[in-house]
Amino acid sequence: MLKFVGFLLILGLATADKCSDCLAQGKHWCVTVNACGFSPCVTTITKALNCPELPDKAHAYDDGFMRNKVFITHSAAYNMDPQKCFTSKMPTMKVSKTVNVNCDRYGPKAMCFGFTAYDTTQKVIALTFRGTEGGTQLTEEILDFFHGKKAFFDSGNVFEYFYDAFLFQWNGGLQQDLRNLKYKYPDYEVWVTGHSMGGAIASIAASYLVKTGLYTADKIKLVTLGQPRTGDYAFAAWHDATFPYSFRIVHHRDIAAHIPPMEGQDELFHHRTEVWYNNNMTIGQPYTLCAEADGLYCSARQLDYSAEDHVWYFGRNFVDWGAAGCP
Ligand SMILES: *[C@@H]1O[C@H](CO)[C@@H](O)[C@H](O)[C@H]1NC(C)=O
Repeated sequence: MLKFVGFLLILGLATADKCSDCLAQGKHWCVTVNACGFSPCVTTITKALNCPELPDKAHAYDDGFMRNKVFITHSAAYNMDPQKCFTSKMPTMKVSKTVNVNCDRYGPKAMCFGFTAYDTTQKVIALTFRGTEGGTQLTEEILDFFHGKKAFFDSGNVFEYFYDAFLFQWNGGLQQDLRNLKYKYPDYEVWVTGHSMGGAIASIAASYLVKTGLYTADKIKLVTLGQPRTGDYAFAAWHDATFPYSFRIVHHRDIAAHIPPMEGQDELFHHRTEVWYNNNMTIGQPYTLCAEADGLYCSARQLDYSAEDHVWYFGRNFVDWGAAGCP
């Protein structure tokens, strides 16, 4: 009887568990044939965070929800008056507070823009971060931003520049406003969003909300577009164990999702879950939910990357579209 139960348990083990057990034995997991140590293998897993796993049904990815709702917040961040975008495309959302602060402690003045908003119809609070101004020159800027890493509580390290940029905005007014909104609307879910550097800041912001106890992770929907690598493996591990709803959307060859490189002493590593649109992202185009966290999978299998794809999401240059008030 015991043997039988044991047999059932083994049968019931998810692929992810079998994969981590395999790695724990010092072998590699072969996705292609779902077997431990099998070679040659087309898709090999050597890091536990890459053991194939997808969000559960309750936290499934919904293209229409992203395209028609959440994406409006990303676009609105490219307008100094984000309400223009909401009034045009999602009028129930009301901007509460905008913050525009110098967020570079070292270099020349760089302005970071973010905002809070609330929606009493959808019962949502939004916390959104803009990318670099104009969304251009991303690669150079993001690489320049690398001034080292900084411990993120007891959960690994994140880029110091992104962490500081978050704290400048947080202490510059977003914290006070979010606390007020939470007091008024304690049950609302929170969308934490951002594009490019704003995506990295959003990832840190969502993590910060949880670490400081302001929100539990199940209240948060983290959605980033073209997010650069933000932290190290330990940070990604904590993130993936913490957030049930976290999507990193990547448009086709968007270069920002692949910088700074993963290799090297800093061991930068993306957290889950990459959603890869290997197309122009117009309505009806397919996408891949990437079962691995970071490595030569999904969008990283492409041989060349594009800066233009970085500002085109869901079928439009949304940096320009947002700046025009989302007409
Ligand atoms: C997007 O891609 C589809 C499929 O290849 C194509 O039919 C469509 O014309 C493209 N749209 C734009 C705006 O490029």
